[in-house]
Amino acid sequence: MLSQRVVHSLLGPCVRRASTHFGFEEVKEDEKADRVRRVFTGVADKYDLMNDAMSMGIHRLWKDYFIQSLPLRNNAKMLDVAGGTGDISFRALRRFPRAHVTVCDINEEMLRVGEQKAKDDEKVDISRLSFVVGDGEKLPFDDDSFDAYTISFGIRNCTHVDQVVREARRVLKPGGLFACLEFSQIHPALRTVYDAYSFQVIPVMGEVLAKDYNSYKYLVESIRRFPNQTDFAELISSTGLKDVRYENLSFGICAIHTARK
Ligand SMILES: C[S@@+](CC[C@H](N)C(=O)[O-])C[C@H]1O[C@@H](n2cnc3c(N)ncnc32)[C@H](O)[C@@H]1O
Repeated sequence: MLSQRVVHSLLGPCVRRASTHFGFEEVKEDEKADRVRRVFTGVADKYDLMNDAMSMGIHRLWKDYFIQSLPLRNNAKMLDVAGGTGDISFRALRRFPRAHVTVCDINEEMLRVGEQKAKDDEKVDISRLSFVVGDGEKLPFDDDSFDAYTISFGIRNCTHVDQVVREARRVLKPGGLFACLEFSQIHPALRTVYDAYSFQVIPVMGEVLAKDYNSYKYLVESIRRFPNQTDFAELISSTGLKDVRYENLSFGICAIHTARK
């Protein structure tokens, strides 16, 4: 009979849990989603305020431009994954007033803040919005359901980025549009100043405004761990999406990647 130690050494490599990154920390893959969930549960009520403070309001311009650049019909059926507090979906409805936008996020708190904002804003037609709790890696929607899939500042928080894009492809109708707005790799000439601001100022701002240093430290680190523009474009192509393009915003602080099913 095999001793316990031999059985363990034979099975060990098979049962060992894969690891991934959570910012600059190595964590077990099955722990990351929960760590990310706790980050956004903690900051949900201060999320919009912090975005304005950290980016000096520039995130609004990036999001405006993102939505303005989408080539969609007025009555498009859209899915905004990792939609959080609704910044993308509300803009989409302003630009495409006959669209319907499903806002999907893994975090109920972020959606709760978003839904309340929609109710409080008379310019948002809430009948054209649905809020659905769901994981971008395993979307609760049928194949070929949407004309457009958007994800803004969300994908780098997911454990398996390739699986998120595969799910996007699955739920898009043939010819449907994939559009991702995400932090990316800044032009090297600006990196030193950008890094100093990111690592030394943003977590402190997080502590002062949201009483949460670590979540904003994670935010900055997660940006550095995300693939650069070309690597992400290759990843998107590898899922079978076609016509992959990207455009840098603010010298590559972030980038818009688009593709078609
Ligand atoms: C930085 S916020 C972005 C919110 C919004 N899209 C925006 O641009 O302001 C990231 C969001 O991703 C969500 N998220 C993280 N992992 C997710 C996953 N696996 N599936 C769906 N949403 C996820 C978080 O709950 C959070 O609301």
